[in-house]
Amino acid sequence: MNKKILVTGGLGFIGSHTVVALQEQGFDVVIIDNLSNSSVDVLGGITRITNKEPEFEKMDLRDKAAVKSFFQKNPDIEGVIHFAASKAVGESVENPLLYYENNLSTLVYLLQELSEKQKANFIFSSSCTVYGQADNLPITENAPVKKAESPYGNTKQIGEEIIFDTCKVYSNLKAICLRYFNPIGAHPSAEIGELPIGTPQNLVPFITQTAIGKRKELSVFGNDYPTEDGTCIRDYIHVMDLARAHVVALKRLVNNEEESNFEVFNLGTGQGNSVLEVINTFEESTGQKLPYKIANRREGDVIAAYADTEKANNELGWKADFSLSEALQSAWKWEKAVNERNN
Ligand code: WQD
Repeated sequence: MNKKILVTGGLGFIGSHTVVALQEQGFDVVIIDNLSNSSVDVLGGITRITNKEPEFEKMDLRDKAAVKSFFQKNPDIEGVIHFAASKAVGESVENPLLYYENNLSTLVYLLQELSEKQKANFIFSSSCTVYGQADNLPITENAPVKKAESPYGNTKQIGEEIIFDTCKVYSNLKAICLRYFNPIGAHPSAEIGELPIGTPQNLVPFITQTAIGKRKELSVFGNDYPTEDGTCIRDYIHVMDLARAHVVALKRLVNNEEESNFEVFNLGTGQGNSVLEVINTFEESTGQKLPYKIANRREGDVIAAYADTEKANNELGWKADFSLSEALQSAWKWEKAVNERNN
């Protein structure tokens, strides 16, 4: 009998790639998604890749009664991977209460149900944003968590604290917080990928939409930072590597291999690349010229962030395999596939 895993936000960018990885590893998956930032068409993409349609329930996790009823109907859930959350940094500054309600109340309702189970395995989608501008690079998991630059980042920090406090009281609950650096790319089949709604906030989808002609040019948010070429540095990790890390983390808990019932891992490549390096790598690896201009700095951007991957490599037994070039090529292939479907 396959182990049954709940993936909240499983029709989203990282969620859908993780569902594919889980199914390929023999898990049965139930997706809960409220479709606020995704489309039910993603279910077809997942099914075409794995030849197995995951169960899907359209539900808003802010509906506490619905969450309770779901777990009563699904007592055999062996693990939960929790992606469902609002994640636009800029939007969170304008609408903090939406973020605190959506990202935190839903987490509490899930944990209330899990804490009542005999045994519960919980993987939390966190972010390197909790470090703010780290004092030392590369960033280890022991780096201090700093005052978040945005309500979005704050919900990740508070979310981790809520989980930590809960795990202290409920030894039957085991949790791993995965702090993502910058997820990019798409499944090589181009059946699933990033589907930003409206103008992309993140660099790589803006690059691919510019290259395909949907955007006039890319604005590089500042080239006067104290870095080699003046542009910000980030750790861009292929979403396929990220998805695989979630399965590895889940198996760690299911197989009782954890060191403690609350663990944190950075998920990055360990490699930092500047915005201009990403643009050059995109042009070289796809042959597409990218029109861009230098614009003003974006409020809240940190200068540089890239992961120390030691802990994930040694304790989780996971490391990122794909290069920046491979990730950018997969993002470009996905953009072309979306364009073909829409035209
Ligand atoms: C990367 C770099 C920009 C767009 C955020 C969240 C993080 C995660 C990923 C949710 C920066 C520059 C960007 C553009 C640009 N979110 N840039 N022109 O800000 O590092 O991380 O998204 O899970 O939690 O904090 O990612 O892709 O927005 O920016 O020059 O049009 O690209 O200034 O230096 P970021 P990003």
